[in-house]
Amino acid sequence: MHDQTLPIAVLASGRGSNLQALIRARQAGKLPVRPVLVASDRADAPALRHATEAGIPVLHLAPGDFPTRRDYDLALFDRVAASGAELLVLAGFMRILDAAAVSPWRGRMINVHPSLLPKYRGLHTHRRVLEAGDAEHGASVHFVTPELDGGPIIAQARIAVQSDDTEQSLAARLLPLEHRLLVAVTDLIARGRLRLDAQTILLDESALERPLQLDRDGQLSP
Ligand code: GAR
Repeated sequence: MHDQTLPIAVLASGRGSNLQALIRARQAGKLPVRPVLVASDRADAPALRHATEAGIPVLHLAPGDFPTRRDYDLALFDRVAASGAELLVLAGFMRILDAAAVSPWRGRMINVHPSLLPKYRGLHTHRRVLEAGDAEHGASVHFVTPELDGGPIIAQARIAVQSDDTEQSLAARLLPLEHRLLVAVTDLIARGRLRLDAQTILLDESALERPLQLDRDGQLSP
């Protein structure tokens, strides 16, 4: 029988809760993907343990074993390509990527980021939202380009910021939405409904005018 699932690789540096969300959705029969590799820059990343427990091949590559960032990224992405992955998901991979490694994956690599991009690229997004006094916060999933957190935005999830919020409370409230957002976007790509065409994101072959929004039911809508 022809396997209809999309082979994916996941890069993760830490806890791996977004990876677990993908694994659970797949195990529940709700996500037509086949994880072929989980790779990390950190040997002690819990994400690697989650992957092993789920029977997914794992790879740890230590940046310190390579002379430059570019050498590391090219070696890592070679291994990803060799895994047969057709989609690469960055799920808490906390490294800046070299353009030479990223470019061949244009339209085939997505990242989940804890802010309403284009606001707050980079680190400490929850803290920066509080410092700015924003009324709203959220998470984005975007196609990865060489510009850090700068690629075309596919979908977002939003939360209201409350007066007593802390970095920790914001992170805790946002995380379950990140999980749903990442699973929902991965699902659209795996089913062949969403793709990047030059600068335009196409959903069911129509240009997306603005990022999809995650609703209360965990569905994406325009
Ligand atoms: C997530 O909050 C993700 O959005 C963030 O790291 C966390 C990883 O959690 N990613 C970034 O900040 C990337 N710029 P996880 O390991 O439990 O999935």
